[in-house]
Amino acid sequence: MEQRDTRLVNWFRQSAPYVNAHRHKTFVIMIGGECIAHQNFSNIVNDIALLNTLGIKIVLVYGARPQIEQALKTNNIESQFHHQQRITTEPAFTLIKQVIGQLQLEINAQLSKGLINTPMQGASINVISGNFITAQPVGISDGIDLCHTGKVRRVDVDGIKRQLEQNSIVVISGIGYSMTGESFNLSAEEVATQLAIRLKADKMIGFCSDNGVLDIEGRVIPEMFPADAKKRLNELEYNGAILTGTAIYLRAAIASCAAGVPRSHLVSYREDGSLLQELFSRDGIGTQIVMASSEQLRGATIDDIAGIVDLIQPLEEQGLLVRRSREQLEVEIKLFTVVERDGLIIGCAALYPAKDQQSGEMACVATHPEYRKASRGDALVEKISEQARRMGLSKLFVLTTSSIHWFRERGFEPVELEQLPVEKQALYNFQRNSKILIKQL
Ligand SMILES: CC(C)(COP(=O)(O)OP(=O)(O)OC[C@H]1O[C@@H](n2cnc3c(N)ncnc32)[C@H](O)[C@@H]1OP(=O)(O)O)[C@@H](O)C(=O)NCCC(=O)NCCS
Repeated sequence: MEQRDTRLVNWFRQSAPYVNAHRHKTFVIMIGGECIAHQNFSNIVNDIALLNTLGIKIVLVYGARPQIEQALKTNNIESQFHHQQRITTEPAFTLIKQVIGQLQLEINAQLSKGLINTPMQGASINVISGNFITAQPVGISDGIDLCHTGKVRRVDVDGIKRQLEQNSIVVISGIGYSMTGESFNLSAEEVATQLAIRLKADKMIGFCSDNGVLDIEGRVIPEMFPADAKKRLNELEYNGAILTGTAIYLRAAIASCAAGVPRSHLVSYREDGSLLQELFSRDGIGTQIVMASSEQLRGATIDDIAGIVDLIQPLEEQGLLVRRSREQLEVEIKLFTVVERDGLIIGCAALYPAKDQQSGEMACVATHPEYRKASRGDALVEKISEQARRMGLSKLFVLTTSSIHWFRERGFEPVELEQLPVEKQALYNFQRNSKILIKQL
């Protein structure tokens, strides 16, 4: 009999929740000219096409900086900048329009592939572009006329949404059109940021030559709040890296996050499949910038004890949670994770690793009654599972009297007492008669 490919089966199953989560969402994807010029670009296009096939609404914004530089050089036209903004003179703009038009045709061609035995087989994607961006001239700055350099004035949100509803990929360049019938040269990052904000996109995604935003030791930073992103951007700018892919993207991500785009991602254009890994695996591969919220899921400290007591005491009195003394909480506080909102502890859970170093008990899972129905319990289970995995544990068990189904719906299976680690068996309270459930991590 043919050997089954269990890796494929496992991978497929593990990615299913992400497929469901991303379906019908709007992603603005920003690709720079460096990315288009790279040999991996056709793989990136295949992956973007795959996202479209999975029901994700895609707006693709492309830049052309290196291609424009090259064309200007070849034609002996000097590149002129004022405060990092290109001065788009008439002869420069003629060339820029040619370069951008050519790239648009290349992107369209790539998205139209459909060869048998390639990932694009049967995809049949509609690509739409048009006059969706209204621009206005930047005008004169410090006495210098920036000529055809423009900025975004309006976005035809309804027009783009209509195309996305039809499952088309909307491809947008850095050229905008004015009410006077002129066209203007815009920065692709400004266009992408404004699109993400005005379309109320769920994500903005950018590509750079690194694997994400790197810290000063060269390691990828998996997650940043806008304030951390700003700090890293300041460091990059201080070191002169003003126009690198990372700096350009960070500026765009900070602006879009501040205006309500919940998540932005930065991945590598060099590494095959980085976009898919970022979007469909638990830990991702690049950097995501997430909107800071007043709510935090974090490890507990001694200062949280009073808040935890307020939260769990009523539940202990109802017999839903095992009683814990304040002293016990003080000793075990490091094992707790809390959800804090505006200074109030509204959720908690604890992880007690067993002596066998294989399993751990999740206990004291609770959310404040006024803050239920918002998946905070799920977030706590996810956080504790992640913590257990990081500790190298392979099993997570819970003892519960009245939330059996709640845990079963979250992947926990009922087991017999003998399956608990020996020291936990010895502590089992037969009077309480809790059900034991285990989740494989
Ligand atoms: C279990 C708990 C942490 C979940 O908190 P939450 O994520 O904020 O979610 P909710 O309470 O809104 O429940 C989410 C869903 O689970 C269901 N649910 C809640 N408690 C349940 C239980 N005991 N058994 C079965 N389902 C339950 C809810 O009806 C809701 O389902 P719905 O979305 O289909 O309506 C919270 O209900 C709680 O603190 N319970 C008391 C303490 C407890 O029993 N802890 C577990 C023992 S360790």
